[in-house]
Amino acid sequence: MGNFLQVDLKEKTAVVTGATRGIGQTIAEAFAANGAKVACLGTNAERLQQTVDAINQNGGEAVAYICNVAKSDEVEKNAGKILARFGKVDILVNNAGITRDMLLRRLKDEDWDDVIAVNLRGTFLTTRAFCESMRKTKQGRIINISSVSGLQGNPGQANYCASKAGVIAFTRTAALELANRNITVNAVAPGFIETDMTAVLNDVVKQVAKDKTPLGRFGQTEDVANAVLFLASDKASFITGQVLPVDGGLTV
Ligand code: NAI
Repeated sequence: MGNFLQVDLKEKTAVVTGATRGIGQTIAEAFAANGAKVACLGTNAERLQQTVDAINQNGGEAVAYICNVAKSDEVEKNAGKILARFGKVDILVNNAGITRDMLLRRLKDEDWDDVIAVNLRGTFLTTRAFCESMRKTKQGRIINISSVSGLQGNPGQANYCASKAGVIAFTRTAALELANRNITVNAVAPGFIETDMTAVLNDVVKQVAKDKTPLGRFGQTEDVANAVLFLASDKASFITGQVLPVDGGLTV
């Protein structure tokens, strides 16, 4: 398990989508390391179980829920199960995301639709499903994983950029709608982070990304998880509707 920021998340229940690998898996580990109970959502049953087993073997408490966040019925069904088991949800991290990169003149309808469905619709569906519990307890933290691609254009990612910019606009509006129940909603915008998602990029693209990053290196999943831990903590109680880039200075 990583070397994480220490915050007090005892008695908290956190939901993390896309927790089977990469950034989501590290966020789930970071929450568990700080005492939260973690509901891990993902579509790959085997990898999801591995994430949960690793957390439980390290003294944490995690439960697996197979759930495609783009599907309204699956989100509602799993939200019901999670609330029945844990009684409440205090923290929601909308991390599940996909890319289908292609120059827009060759971009297929389904590659546009799939990316919007997982990245943007998924964020909406889970937020709608879990915010009612937070409204009842008059506290909550929602953290949406956007991207630097939601803050600036990136050739070959019209679908992804639109979805991640949409996540930022959604974050701001949800923050306004939920503020009167003491629920904060923020976004984290990672730059180039070393995960399976970025491992598939060719060496030229990777070098360009590194060259554009003032700190001259790629981020690790722990860099994103630590920002999420802070936003999920009591220390961030006066921050809402904001976007925190974790990008080595890429968007400066
Ligand atoms: P990844 O591809 O390693 O992991 C994505 C996770 O989302 C996996 O667990 C996958 O199973 C899950 N997922 C995909 N579709 C799903 C669905 N329909 N329902 C539920 N779960 C689903 O990607 P990575 O790098 O860990 O990315 C995590 C988030 O961070 C994504 O939202 C991504 O867009 C964002 N991000 C990543 C960056 C990077 O450089 N790796 C940079 C900026 C943002």
